[in-house]
Amino acid sequence: MMTFEDRRILRCRDGLALTARRLRAGDAAALQQFDRELSAPSRRWFLPHPYDDATVARALARSEAGEDLTLGLFDGARMVGYFFLWYARRRVPLLGIGLVDGFQGQGLAKPMIRLLIEAAREDGCEAVELTTMLDNDRAFALYQHCGFEHYKDVRNLQGNGEWVVERAMICRLRPGAAPMAEPHQPPV
Ligand SMILES: CC(C)(COP(=O)(O)OP(=O)(O)OC[C@H]1O[C@@H](n2cnc3c(N)ncnc32)[C@H](O)[C@@H]1OP(=O)(O)O)[C@@H](O)C(=O)NCCC(=O)NCCS
Repeated sequence: MMTFEDRRILRCRDGLALTARRLRAGDAAALQQFDRELSAPSRRWFLPHPYDDATVARALARSEAGEDLTLGLFDGARMVGYFFLWYARRRVPLLGIGLVDGFQGQGLAKPMIRLLIEAAREDGCEAVELTTMLDNDRAFALYQHCGFEHYKDVRNLQGNGEWVVERAMICRLRPGAAPMAEPHQPPV
Protein backbone atom coordinates (compact mmCIF):
# COMPACT_ATOMS: atom_id res chain seq x y z
CA MET A 1 0.00 0.00 0.00
CA MET A 2 1.17 3.55 -0.60
CA THR A 3 2.80 4.95 2.52
CA PHE A 4 1.56 8.21 3.97
CA GLU A 5 4.47 10.20 2.55
CA ASP A 6 4.20 8.84 -1.01
CA ARG A 7 3.57 11.29 -3.82
CA ARG A 8 2.84 10.37 -7.44
CA ILE A 9 2.98 12.79 -10.36
CA LEU A 10 0.28 12.41 -13.04
CA ARG A 11 0.26 14.55 -16.18
CA CYS A 12 -2.62 16.11 -18.10
CA ARG A 13 -2.55 15.89 -21.91
CA ASP A 14 -1.19 19.46 -22.03
CA GLY A 15 1.73 18.47 -19.76
CA LEU A 16 0.48 20.05 -16.52
CA ALA A 17 1.86 18.02 -13.60
CA LEU A 18 -0.56 17.08 -10.80
CA THR A 19 0.31 15.43 -7.49
CA ALA A 20 -1.55 12.41 -6.11
CA ARG A 21 -1.25 11.82 -2.37
CA ARG A 22 -3.15 10.45 0.59
CA LEU A 23 -5.65 12.77 2.22
CA ARG A 24 -5.12 13.68 5.87
CA ALA A 25 -7.16 15.39 8.58
CA GLY A 26 -6.05 18.85 7.40
CA ASP A 27 -7.58 18.32 3.93
CA ALA A 28 -11.22 18.79 4.95
CA ALA A 29 -11.60 22.21 3.29
CA ALA A 30 -9.90 21.04 0.07
CA LEU A 31 -12.20 18.01 -0.11
CA GLN A 32 -15.34 20.08 0.48
CA GLN A 33 -14.21 22.61 -2.13
CA PHE A 34 -13.66 19.72 -4.60
CA ASP A 35 -17.32 18.72 -4.20
CA ARG A 36 -18.54 22.31 -4.61
CA GLU A 37 -16.63 22.58 -7.91
CA LEU A 38 -18.44 19.62 -9.51
CA SER A 39 -21.15 20.47 -12.05
CA ALA A 40 -24.64 19.09 -11.30
CA PRO A 41 -24.28 16.17 -13.78
CA SER A 42 -20.84 15.25 -12.39
CA ARG A 43 -22.15 15.36 -8.82
CA ARG A 44 -25.12 13.17 -9.73
CA TRP A 45 -22.63 10.53 -10.95
CA PHE A 46 -20.11 11.06 -8.16
CA LEU A 47 -21.54 11.63 -4.69
CA PRO A 48 -19.78 8.89 -2.72
CA HIS A 49 -20.78 10.33 0.66
CA PRO A 50 -22.15 13.58 2.10
CA TYR A 51 -19.57 16.39 2.51
CA ASP A 52 -20.73 17.78 5.87
CA ASP A 53 -17.97 18.36 8.43
CA ALA A 54 -18.67 15.21 10.46
CA THR A 55 -18.71 12.82 7.48
CA VAL A 56 -15.60 14.38 5.95
CA ALA A 57 -13.79 14.09 9.31
CA ARG A 58 -14.69 10.38 9.47
CA ALA A 59 -13.46 9.80 5.90
CA LEU A 60 -10.16 11.57 6.63
CA ALA A 61 -9.68 9.68 9.91
CA ARG A 62 -10.12 6.39 8.02
CA SER A 63 -7.54 7.61 5.51
CA GLU A 64 -5.04 8.43 8.25
CA ALA A 65 -5.65 5.03 9.87
CA GLY A 66 -5.09 3.26 6.54
CA GLU A 67 -8.56 1.69 6.61
CA ASP A 68 -9.19 3.20 3.18
CA LEU A 69 -6.65 4.33 0.57
CA THR A 70 -8.08 7.83 0.12
CA LEU A 71 -6.25 9.96 -2.44
CA GLY A 72 -6.52 13.49 -3.71
CA LEU A 73 -5.16 14.75 -7.02
CA PHE A 74 -3.82 18.27 -6.54
CA ASP A 75 -3.03 21.18 -8.85
CA GLY A 76 -1.03 23.11 -6.28
CA ALA A 77 -3.35 23.50 -3.27
CA ARG A 78 -6.50 22.89 -5.36
CA MET A 79 -7.91 19.37 -5.19
CA VAL A 80 -9.12 18.42 -8.67
CA GLY A 81 -9.57 14.66 -8.26
CA TYR A 82 -10.84 12.37 -5.48
CA PHE A 83 -10.14 8.66 -5.83
CA PHE A 84 -10.03 5.86 -3.35
CA LEU A 85 -10.14 2.22 -2.37
CA TRP A 86 -12.61 1.85 0.46
CA TYR A 87 -12.07 -1.07 2.85
CA ALA A 88 -8.44 -1.30 1.76
CA ARG A 89 -7.75 -4.18 4.16
CA ARG A 90 -10.46 -6.42 2.77
CA ARG A 91 -9.98 -9.18 0.21
CA VAL A 92 -11.94 -7.03 -2.30
CA PRO A 93 -11.84 -3.23 -1.81
CA LEU A 94 -14.30 -0.80 -3.43
CA LEU A 95 -13.01 1.81 -5.89
CA GLY A 96 -14.34 5.33 -6.52
CA ILE A 97 -13.12 8.15 -8.77
CA GLY A 98 -14.18 11.67 -9.70
CA LEU A 99 -12.57 14.67 -11.37
CA VAL A 100 -13.74 18.28 -11.41
CA ASP A 101 -15.18 19.12 -14.81
CA GLY A 102 -12.21 21.13 -16.11
CA PHE A 103 -9.91 18.13 -15.60
CA GLN A 104 -12.15 15.52 -17.27
CA GLY A 105 -11.21 14.25 -20.73
CA GLN A 106 -7.49 14.83 -20.08
CA GLY A 107 -6.45 11.19 -19.91
CA LEU A 108 -6.11 11.28 -16.11
CA ALA A 109 -8.64 8.62 -15.17
CA LYS A 110 -6.72 5.62 -16.52
CA PRO A 111 -3.47 6.34 -14.62
CA MET A 112 -5.52 7.11 -11.49
CA ILE A 113 -7.34 3.78 -11.72
CA ARG A 114 -4.09 1.98 -12.54
CA LEU A 115 -2.51 3.45 -9.40
CA LEU A 116 -5.35 2.13 -7.23
CA ILE A 117 -5.33 -1.30 -8.86
CA GLU A 118 -1.55 -1.61 -8.42
CA ALA A 119 -1.86 -0.61 -4.75
CA ALA A 120 -4.51 -3.30 -4.26
CA ARG A 121 -2.36 -5.87 -6.06
CA GLU A 122 0.71 -5.02 -3.94
CA ASP A 123 -1.40 -5.51 -0.83
CA GLY A 124 -2.50 -8.96 -1.94
CA CYS A 125 -6.14 -8.08 -2.69
CA GLU A 126 -7.94 -10.64 -4.83
CA ALA A 127 -10.06 -8.18 -6.83
CA VAL A 128 -11.30 -4.60 -6.92
CA GLU A 129 -14.97 -3.69 -7.28
CA LEU A 130 -16.91 -0.53 -8.08
CA THR A 131 -20.45 0.54 -8.85
CA THR A 132 -21.53 3.00 -11.53
CA MET A 133 -24.87 4.48 -12.56
CA LEU A 134 -26.70 2.95 -15.52
CA ASP A 135 -26.47 6.10 -17.70
CA ASN A 136 -22.78 6.87 -17.06
CA ASP A 137 -21.53 5.69 -20.47
CA ARG A 138 -18.14 7.35 -20.20
CA ALA A 139 -17.33 5.77 -16.85
CA PHE A 140 -18.64 2.36 -17.98
CA ALA A 141 -16.42 2.38 -21.11
CA LEU A 142 -13.46 3.56 -19.06
CA TYR A 143 -13.86 0.80 -16.47
CA GLN A 144 -14.14 -1.85 -19.18
CA HIS A 145 -10.89 -0.51 -20.71
CA CYS A 146 -9.28 -0.86 -17.27
CA GLY A 147 -10.23 -4.53 -16.91
CA PHE A 148 -13.56 -4.31 -15.03
CA GLU A 149 -16.43 -6.62 -15.93
CA HIS A 150 -20.11 -5.89 -15.25
CA TYR A 151 -21.38 -8.85 -13.21
CA LYS A 152 -24.67 -7.71 -11.66
CA ASP A 153 -26.87 -4.73 -10.82
CA VAL A 154 -27.24 -3.53 -7.22
CA ARG A 155 -29.34 -0.98 -5.29
CA ASN A 156 -27.07 1.61 -3.70
CA LEU A 157 -27.53 4.46 -1.27
CA GLN A 158 -26.13 7.74 -2.67
CA GLY A 159 -24.51 10.51 -0.64
CA ASN A 160 -27.77 12.51 -0.88
CA GLY A 161 -29.79 9.71 0.74
CA GLU A 162 -31.42 8.46 -2.50
CA TRP A 163 -31.44 4.81 -3.53
CA VAL A 164 -30.41 4.10 -7.15
CA VAL A 165 -29.78 1.01 -9.24
CA GLU A 166 -26.14 0.76 -10.29
CA ARG A 167 -23.95 -1.62 -12.22
CA ALA A 168 -21.51 -3.57 -10.05
CA MET A 169 -18.21 -4.24 -11.80
CA ILE A 170 -15.24 -6.38 -10.78
CA CYS A 171 -11.58 -6.38 -11.83
CA ARG A 172 -10.07 -9.71 -10.81
CA LEU A 173 -6.44 -9.69 -9.67
CA ARG A 174 -6.48 -13.46 -9.16
CA PRO A 175 -8.23 -15.78 -11.61
CA GLY A 176 -11.60 -16.91 -10.30
CA ALA A 177 -11.68 -14.41 -7.42
CA ALA A 178 -15.16 -14.21 -5.89
CA PRO A 179 -16.97 -10.85 -5.67
CA MET A 180 -17.17 -9.09 -2.31
CA ALA A 181 -19.62 -10.62 0.13
CA GLU A 182 -20.45 -7.29 1.83
CA PRO A 183 -22.89 -4.68 0.48
CA HIS A 184 -21.45 -1.91 -1.73
CA GLN A 185 -21.94 0.75 0.90
CA PRO A 186 -19.77 3.70 1.96
CA PRO A 187 -17.71 3.24 5.13
CA VAL A 188 -18.62 6.73 6.44
C1 LIG B 1 -15.55 9.32 -15.26
C2 LIG B 1 -14.26 10.12 -15.18
C3 LIG B 1 -13.52 9.76 -13.91
C4 LIG B 1 -13.42 9.72 -16.39
O1 LIG B 1 -12.24 10.44 -16.37
P1 LIG B 1 -11.69 11.19 -17.65
O2 LIG B 1 -10.27 11.54 -17.40
O3 LIG B 1 -12.64 12.28 -17.96
O4 LIG B 1 -11.75 10.05 -18.74
P2 LIG B 1 -11.46 10.24 -20.28
O5 LIG B 1 -12.15 11.43 -20.81
O6 LIG B 1 -9.99 10.14 -20.45
O7 LIG B 1 -12.21 9.01 -20.90
C5 LIG B 1 -11.96 7.72 -20.50
C6 LIG B 1 -12.35 6.79 -21.62
O8 LIG B 1 -13.77 6.81 -21.85
C7 LIG B 1 -14.04 7.11 -23.23
N1 LIG B 1 -15.20 8.00 -23.32
C8 LIG B 1 -15.23 9.32 -23.12
N2 LIG B 1 -16.49 9.79 -23.25
C9 LIG B 1 -17.26 8.74 -23.52
C10 LIG B 1 -18.67 8.57 -23.74
N3 LIG B 1 -19.53 9.58 -23.69
N4 LIG B 1 -19.13 7.31 -24.01
C11 LIG B 1 -18.28 6.25 -24.04
N5 LIG B 1 -16.95 6.37 -23.84
C12 LIG B 1 -16.46 7.60 -23.57
C13 LIG B 1 -12.80 7.80 -23.73
O9 LIG B 1 -12.67 7.56 -25.12
C14 LIG B 1 -11.68 7.18 -22.91
O10 LIG B 1 -11.19 6.02 -23.48
P3 LIG B 1 -9.82 6.06 -24.32
O11 LIG B 1 -8.79 6.70 -23.42
O12 LIG B 1 -9.56 4.63 -24.63
O13 LIG B 1 -10.14 6.92 -25.51
C15 LIG B 1 -14.49 11.65 -15.22
O14 LIG B 1 -15.03 12.00 -16.45
C16 LIG B 1 -15.40 12.14 -14.11
O15 LIG B 1 -14.94 12.40 -13.00
N6 LIG B 1 -16.71 12.28 -14.39
C17 LIG B 1 -17.70 12.79 -13.41
C18 LIG B 1 -17.82 11.90 -12.19
C19 LIG B 1 -18.02 10.44 -12.55
O16 LIG B 1 -18.77 10.10 -13.44
N7 LIG B 1 -17.31 9.56 -11.81
C20 LIG B 1 -17.43 8.13 -11.96
C21 LIG B 1 -18.55 7.64 -11.14
S1 LIG B 1 -18.76 5.87 -11.29
